[in-house]
Amino acid sequence: MRSTRVLTGITTTGTPHLGNYVGAIRPAIEASRNPNTDGFFFLADYHALIKCDDPARIERSRLEIAATWLAAGLDTERVTFYRQSDIPEVSELNWLLTCVTAKGQMNRAHAYKASTDANEAAGEDLDHGVTMGLFCYPILMAADILLFNPHLVPVGRDQIQHIEMARDVAARFNHLFGAGKELFVLPEAHIEEHVATLPGLDGRKMSKSYDNTIPLFEGGPKGLKDAVARIVTNSLLPGEPKDPDCHLVTIYEAFASAEQAKQFRADLVAGLGWGDAKKQLVELIEAHVGPMRERYAELMAHPERIEELLQAGAAKARATATPFIQELREAVGLRRMVAIAQPAAKAAKTKVALPLFKQYRLADGLFYFNFSDANGRLLLESQGFAQGKEAGQWIGQLKREASIPADAPLQLAEGISAAEVVAALQALQAE
Ligand code: TRP
Repeated sequence: MRSTRVLTGITTTGTPHLGNYVGAIRPAIEASRNPNTDGFFFLADYHALIKCDDPARIERSRLEIAATWLAAGLDTERVTFYRQSDIPEVSELNWLLTCVTAKGQMNRAHAYKASTDANEAAGEDLDHGVTMGLFCYPILMAADILLFNPHLVPVGRDQIQHIEMARDVAARFNHLFGAGKELFVLPEAHIEEHVATLPGLDGRKMSKSYDNTIPLFEGGPKGLKDAVARIVTNSLLPGEPKDPDCHLVTIYEAFASAEQAKQFRADLVAGLGWGDAKKQLVELIEAHVGPMRERYAELMAHPERIEELLQAGAAKARATATPFIQELREAVGLRRMVAIAQPAAKAAKTKVALPLFKQYRLADGLFYFNFSDANGRLLLESQGFAQGKEAGQWIGQLKREASIPADAPLQLAEGISAAEVVAALQALQAE
């Protein structure tokens, strides 16, 4: 069976929380174990630079996020795990794509629009604080994707527009340079429909911007316990029956077996106290996260091991990327000069001299031009112009029209007919 190539990028900003784990990391790692998929996972650290100019934070986030994915069980033997910034072909493709991307399309990209909208609301200049990195963000993302020709790109809903832009630019590139061949596979966004978003402490979606997160590893077992203690419940006392349709149960269910979940719900209905319920929740999460946290700590203590894995991943990725970018360079015309195999006759023709316009200025301060044929025989001379621009405009018109307008301020050279001049102009046009 042919395997499906699946590629996704992980922006290396922030510190992962339990919601990231349940909503993104865990499902991606599970999917990567499917023997029919060929997974490409990378740390989008070039993208991280768009939002952060603090080198220490950039460095730390990359390390933490790499360690998180490895500790959570990403199998680097099975998938290709690398850093975007270790693949020079990404920035090379980024430029090739930039040159065929319409600026108008980028004007409509959500991330950029959000900034200009916020600026408009604040009465600022529309582009206030907008870097070209932010503006061109979707092109870099298209380069990440198209360089490896994946079929599927698992992303959150907020990224769908970016995948569509990648498809558009891929189609345009194929059309312009493919010569009938599909250089790029058109990627499809893959949205995990069945993955629930984990609620946070207050019942809204768990998110750093709501300040309602439960840390994944940060703060150790105590950090976990303290966060769970802050989960909002009601004031029902132990012994009173509780409604099990609440966010505490949803969080529990994200880690529980069907059996455990059923029991937990029954216990709450039977009057399990919130304090005990939270204790059980901490134990359940800890049973999952505890062993990962240990692996995480071990990896964080040995960054050189992560570095080594990522270097090996980059080598694996470049085994695909290097020959492919070569093919793309060829396609756009960036070729080795020796590779041009011209028929001899044509090569000779390129050496033949052409009719030539020359512009010059004389001691009278005026601007002139003349025109001579391929053998250097003078065909005509202009009158003097006050502005060099006027001479240029007459040359432009002569070249375009390959005829001599009646009012043209010039004289034919001695013994030259208008027909000879026209022939020379036509020869120039044919080139
Ligand atoms: N922009 C994505 C995000 O914020 C991360 C990303 C960068 C990405 N390049 C990618 C995702 C390529 C998928 C494919 O989530």
